[in-house]
Amino acid sequence: MSELSNTNNQGPLNSLDDWEDDLLDRYPDADSIAAGRDTEAYRDYENNLKDTVREFYRLQHINQTYDFVIQKKAQYLTFDKKEMSVWDAFDFLNQLVDDSDPDTDLDQLQHLLQTSEAIRGDGRPDWMVLTGLFHDLGKVLCLFGEPQWAVVGDSYPVGCAFSDKIIFSQYFKDNKDYYDPRYNTKYGIYEPNCGLDNVHMTWGHDEYIYHMMKPYLPEQALYMLRYHSFYPQHRENAYSHLMTPHDHQLFKAVNQFNPYDLYSKSPVPPNWTELRPYYEDLVAKYLPSTLKF
Ligand SMILES: [Fe+2]
Ligand SMILES: [Fe+2]
Repeated sequence: MSELSNTNNQGPLNSLDDWEDDLLDRYPDADSIAAGRDTEAYRDYENNLKDTVREFYRLQHINQTYDFVIQKKAQYLTFDKKEMSVWDAFDFLNQLVDDSDPDTDLDQLQHLLQTSEAIRGDGRPDWMVLTGLFHDLGKVLCLFGEPQWAVVGDSYPVGCAFSDKIIFSQYFKDNKDYYDPRYNTKYGIYEPNCGLDNVHMTWGHDEYIYHMMKPYLPEQALYMLRYHSFYPQHRENAYSHLMTPHDHQLFKAVNQFNPYDLYSKSPVPPNWTELRPYYEDLVAKYLPSTLKF
């Protein structure tokens, strides 16, 4: 096991995948929303939640502040940490292992390939297949020492009031921004319908990979990358007041992408040896030979 594997456990989750497994409980099908939080189904969801997952959300909601996001953007968006070929980057990402259950869980690349293969199988455009392959590469943040709550978790805007439609919104009362008059009003530092491009999102794997891929992929792909964990909007519609008509138009792409991420998991690993030539060509079509992290 690599010397980096201990960084997987910088947080309460046994593995980063525990958050995504929880999403499946919260949104068991492609149309489900968590609205009606007083319903029996929702109470069941909350009651059955593992303590580790609950603690994960608590830490995320306390620590994702406006200042934290600005600081992480300054730290990571210089892309001067490491330079790797795409394939070395996937090997690097695969050092994230699930210590709790190493036999039954697929590695990170396999989740990415299942997502991209499901997209390809539906005859979607090749840039969307590539988006499927890359959407979780930002989880390498864990290997750079970031805690779990700064890598995964639902994403949402900072710099304005936290929506009560965010999962476990009660934990925001321990976030310092909750009491800061600059940040705790409906619009906070933003203007009505200012556009999501002008909004700071929580720091995590989505934001990181979005910025990394910005020079190379079409706008729809960039929306899929940046907002794929923005469940408070794509399932709960909690931030329309910050969005432009253009954002709404592009969220159709986000909504098309999301089921491939959430519902393509299968215990059967894709045959990487067979698939590799196709993906090598695809990567070469859109990306440079090395990526900067
Ligand atoms: Fe993700
Ligand atoms: Fe994913």
